[in-house]
Amino acid sequence: MKFAEAAAALKGIPHISRHSAQILYDFILTARPANCLELGFAHGASSGYICAALDELGSGRLTSVDIEASRNFEPTIEETLSRMQLAQYADVRREKNSYNWFLKKQVEAQTRDGHCTPYYDFVFIDGSKNWTIDGLAFFLADKLLREGGWILFDDYEWRYADAVERGKHATDGVSIRELSEDQVDEPNVKAIFELLVAQHPNYSNCQVQDRSWAWAQKVAGPKEIVHTRKSRLASRLGRWKASLG
Ligand SMILES: C[S@@+](CC[C@H](N)C(=O)[O-])C[C@H]1O[C@@H](n2cnc3c(N)ncnc32)[C@H](O)[C@@H]1O
Repeated sequence: MKFAEAAAALKGIPHISRHSAQILYDFILTARPANCLELGFAHGASSGYICAALDELGSGRLTSVDIEASRNFEPTIEETLSRMQLAQYADVRREKNSYNWFLKKQVEAQTRDGHCTPYYDFVFIDGSKNWTIDGLAFFLADKLLREGGWILFDDYEWRYADAVERGKHATDGVSIRELSEDQVDEPNVKAIFELLVAQHPNYSNCQVQDRSWAWAQKVAGPKEIVHTRKSRLASRLGRWKASLG
């Protein structure tokens, strides 16, 4: 499915901007990941763009994970994908508490003789934005991510303080009152990306796009984090092509 057709079908469905969706779609077409994993699907908008790109490629699968409560979202991911006639590309999974339990089961399923064989080529973490939850999600996803694969985090600069300013006291099951002041004030995803991902010996090509999306590739290499803007999208795609060979 072409991007414009996907964008028309997904118009009005949160939570992804058209600009980010275009980048995600182009990334899938360029990197051609065989197995994609999305942690946090909400209404299935970003899943829809991923499936549209897989459809354009004619191959690939998406596993998309959220909590049980997402059955009550309007629309549900199932409604979104079936309206686009792309449901055949996606395995939708729900967990009572967290995608980390799904990841635990995946690590278990991929383990033989004490060794976990990676399965995914692309992991998109777009869920809790919490140090403890997504910090663990990174290490679990790393066990499942193939060499050369990419990991993407949304909400690089999001802070619990932003939610408090909007009158919220809990988000994604986390009671903000139970967090320390400095955890509330600090972007947790940025901390995960800078302290866990970029410092990890197996990750490089770390790029933060438009201060919101953080990408890293599972290849050993330089540890610098490059910040890119909309106007530098062309060079980003060039970098992807170069790093993919
Ligand atoms: C911003 S929305 C995802 C948006 C979606 N990726 C898109 O761009 O269309 C975040 C989602 O993550 C889910 N979520 C948050 N924490 C989670 C966790 N620990 N386990 C599973 N899902 C989680 C929420 O239920 C919510 O649906």
